Amino acid sequence: MPISIQGRPSEEQGIKVIQEAVHAGVNFIDTANVYCLDDSDIGHNERIIYKALKNINALQKVYIATKGGLIRPEGRWECNAEPQFLRKSCEKSLQDLHAESIFLYQLHAPDSNIPFEDSVGELTKLKEEGKIENIGLSNVNAEELNAAQEIVRIESVQNRCNPGHQKDLKNSFTDLCKKQNVTYIAYSPVGGGFHHKDLSHQKLFLELSKKYKTSSYCIILAWLLSKGEHVLPIPGASHVESILDSMKAAQVKLEQEDIQKIDNL
Ligand SMILES: NC(=O)c1ccc[n+]([C@@H]2O[C@H](COP(=O)([O-])OP(=O)(O)OC[C@H]3O[C@@H](n4cnc5c(N)ncnc54)[C@H](OP(=O)(O)O)[C@@H]3O)[C@@H](O)[C@H]2O)c1
Repeated sequence: MPISIQGRPSEEQGIKVIQEAVHAGVNFIDTANVYCLDDSDIGHNERIIYKALKNINALQKVYIATKGGLIRPEGRWECNAEPQFLRKSCEKSLQDLHAESIFLYQLHAPDSNIPFEDSVGELTKLKEEGKIENIGLSNVNAEELNAAQEIVRIESVQNRCNPGHQKDLKNSFTDLCKKQNVTYIAYSPVGGGFHHKDLSHQKLFLELSKKYKTSSYCIILAWLLSKGEHVLPIPGASHVESILDSMKAAQVKLEQEDIQKIDNL
């Protein structure tokens, strides 16, 4: 997302971030048609991902998850999960990714103007037609996940989750996902584009970073990884150094007492 929204780096830098990440072992990239500047720029991030992967012959090595259901009028973020619009968005994503089918297609958010069942119903049709392989939901709660599961198998949920946003951990939503064998994708895992510096500079993370000889960012990501194998944090990056650092989090095993300290924040 940081490669394509306001404040984005040059295309050359964006491509380098993706390529270096893949060279270092990244095999899952989350994107969305609306990771762009505005409605005239839809698909910017998907096109860059395609370009970057094609160039290093890695199109078959990386699982790409994209989304539909939002629009960017004059750069704002608004919902449109109307079935025909979702279909058109999915078809455009297929075009921009140069793919025959999308590994994981996520409803970006429920649209309060459209019956939720209708949006999920259209994703079901797209899956039946082979345009998408797996269905995910984003920005949903337990009730919405359960309602969708009545219609079609949901493979993933993508919600905001970080030490400053622990709602899904505290209200057992992540446990519900585990019970249903649903991957819980934690977005803005290090605090989000505007807040990651505030979060990573908190005293506790600076202390833990010294103790474990790693960055504060890796401490935060290791904490999320400690929540179970079904929890998948997806740190964003517009600099190569950020993503290469974040990847080291998989090697950090936090002690229970330190996990607890972060839980208590
Ligand atoms: N479904 C949704 O509604 C939704 C909403 C928001 C985000 N997302 C997804 O979640 C992903 C991540 O969320 P996000 O970008 O909002 O927030 P984030 O990952 O919490 O923070 C991203 C920012 O943190 C910095 N950063 C990350 N790891 C770092 C490290 N190890 N060292 C130093 N800086 C580091 C990056 O800086 P640099 O830019 O300088 O590299 C980046 O701009 C997005 O890319 C997107 O795929 C989904």
